Amino acid sequence: MAGMDISTENRLNDMPNHIEEGDILSLLQWYMDSGVDETIDDLPQDWFELSRSLTQKTTPKSPSPTGQSGIIPKKIAPLASKMVSIEHIVQDAARLAASCNSLSELNDVIKSFNGCSLKNIATNTVFSDGNPDSDIMVIGEAPGVDEDRYGKAIIGKNGQMLDRMFKAIGLSRENDFYLTNILPWRPPGNRKALAEEITICLPFIRRHIELFNPKTLILLGGISANSLINSDLGITRLRGKWLEYDLCGKTIPVRPLFHPAYLLKQPKAKADTWKDLLEIKAKIGEETNKKSGKKSGKKTE
Ligand code: URA
Repeated sequence: MAGMDISTENRLNDMPNHIEEGDILSLLQWYMDSGVDETIDDLPQDWFELSRSLTQKTTPKSPSPTGQSGIIPKKIAPLASKMVSIEHIVQDAARLAASCNSLSELNDVIKSFNGCSLKNIATNTVFSDGNPDSDIMVIGEAPGVDEDRYGKAIIGKNGQMLDRMFKAIGLSRENDFYLTNILPWRPPGNRKALAEEITICLPFIRRHIELFNPKTLILLGGISANSLINSDLGITRLRGKWLEYDLCGKTIPVRPLFHPAYLLKQPKAKADTWKDLLEIKAKIGEETNKKSGKKSGKKTE
């Protein structure tokens, strides 16, 4: 067992060899109740770098001409290496994303990308759901347990809530909109996406938006809105108005909404969301009127 101290090891050696099945079950239950459902770290660790910095600490070099000892301070070394490696991972993601010319190429590239440790524990890479030839792109935060199991975006109870909301303004996922997430992999235990995970995956979602080329962008919840719009205001202040997204030099309308998970917990917020939905319906009506008489330019053409 990695990281165990000597006194713990001695105590375990004194324990009887036979452990009751009930003890194991109650230990597992205790882990589950505490939210511990994974045995790995949130981010990749460079253990070689860590051991190198510890070796340098125990065998100090003679002082360098600059007066520096050459010893990497214990706390700074792993942190610095982590920051450098995230920068490299993001560059790699950006290069790979830019190389894709279709949604299916981007899907393949994300599936084979190993720079985000969430992938190691995910059952599926969740790319999207809905109609890839529609004009509306809905972006959530990250897959949950159902999305992870079936490999489709926003299909669990949040997705069902979202479908009911959109049905109320005459839109269905089969015909009228397309869904994806900021992260293509499920964070363990449904915890919030970490800033590092978002930074690493941002080039993929930005390219996803470019390739889908929506006429309207809908962002579900604060994490989705803050990741794609240049603002760190909370969702309560961001919703209720049209914002803009720069899509390769062309400006498209963006509407942040309360996340369906929030609406499930706070039904009173549905009244505000209904106003947002009515404005979305009106905007789509305007777009349709503008388009009528013109030839449609769908992505599949
Ligand atoms: N499931 C998703 O796919 N996205 C969310 O934001 C929430 C649940």
